[in-house]
Amino acid sequence: MAGITEFSGKTAVVTGGASGIGFAMARRFLEEGMRVAIADVEQSALDTAVRELSAFGDVMGKRTDVRSVGDLEALAEAVLGTYGRIDVVCNNAGVETGGSFLSIPEEAWRWVMNVNFFGVLNGCRVFLPLLEAGGGGHIVNTASVAAFSSGTATMTPYCASKFAVLGMSESLEVELRTAGSPVGVSLLAPGPVKTRMVDAERNRPADVPLATEPGRVAVMERLAATTAEVGMDPAEVAGQVLDAIRTNTFFVLTHPEMAQAGVQRRLDWMATGTPPPARQAGK
Ligand SMILES: NC(=O)c1ccc[n+]([C@@H]2O[C@H](COP(=O)([O-])OP(=O)(O)OC[C@H]3O[C@@H](n4cnc5c(N)ncnc54)[C@H](O)[C@@H]3O)[C@@H](O)[C@H]2O)c1
Repeated sequence: MAGITEFSGKTAVVTGGASGIGFAMARRFLEEGMRVAIADVEQSALDTAVRELSAFGDVMGKRTDVRSVGDLEALAEAVLGTYGRIDVVCNNAGVETGGSFLSIPEEAWRWVMNVNFFGVLNGCRVFLPLLEAGGGGHIVNTASVAAFSSGTATMTPYCASKFAVLGMSESLEVELRTAGSPVGVSLLAPGPVKTRMVDAERNRPADVPLATEPGRVAVMERLAATTAEVGMDPAEVAGQVLDAIRTNTFFVLTHPEMAQAGVQRRLDWMATGTPPPARQAGK
């Protein structure tokens, strides 16, 4: 199946669109002449983003918590009411918290899984029927290199959530291709990108404590430093996503060498029986 070659006049929906990679994808879609709906849980950031993105084209914002199927259904209804069609859906919202295994409370696990995995799943379940009914389209699910690389100290919930996004998205893509569906799927798996992700706990629910274990804080400080130093510009990621939609390419790997090294570590582990040492975040 060919990808989307003409973007002008089409509509994109981007969750987590108020910041970082989501904001950059929204801007790029607007520059291609698309109409864009950004959805985000952070109302003030959403308002600011809509104002800024208005300089590039026709954009609407709707406060949406991707953990809620009802919020996503209301988003779909609002976008169809305003723009009349939906062609591209980026299930991109994501969060991170963690620590050493037994220090992580159940509420933190549920928050990360509910946003990172169920948020993406909810988006697929709500928007896929609408894309198929509209004659076709493309879904972009944001995972991470953490979907290929286990064993990063203190980031176990994040890793588990992104493995789940990978497994679900690969299986969805295979099923849709087998069925000859007019909807394509891409899996965006970024390495370090300059965004607000290291400050993801700003959106944690009231029942999720701030992760303050010294080992955890040190990991996050290192990750923040690495990302600031070598992180990719989100605009470059957005360009790669656009190319993947155009060519209907499944894997969008911003740092392919990191993804492949993560898979290789696990293949070596399977072959030798020796678990690898802990990884350092961002490496
Ligand atoms: N930045 C990186 O280095 C990196 C690396 C790998 C993967 N990712 C993934 O990229 C995606 C985008 O993150 P980013 O790096 O742009 O970070 P970011 O923090 O800049 O943006 C994430 C956005 O998601 C929103 N959000 C959080 N919870 C939400 C919810 N429940 N419902 C709706 N919106 C919600 C936030 O308000 C924020 O605007 C995430 O899925 C993240 O896991 C980022």
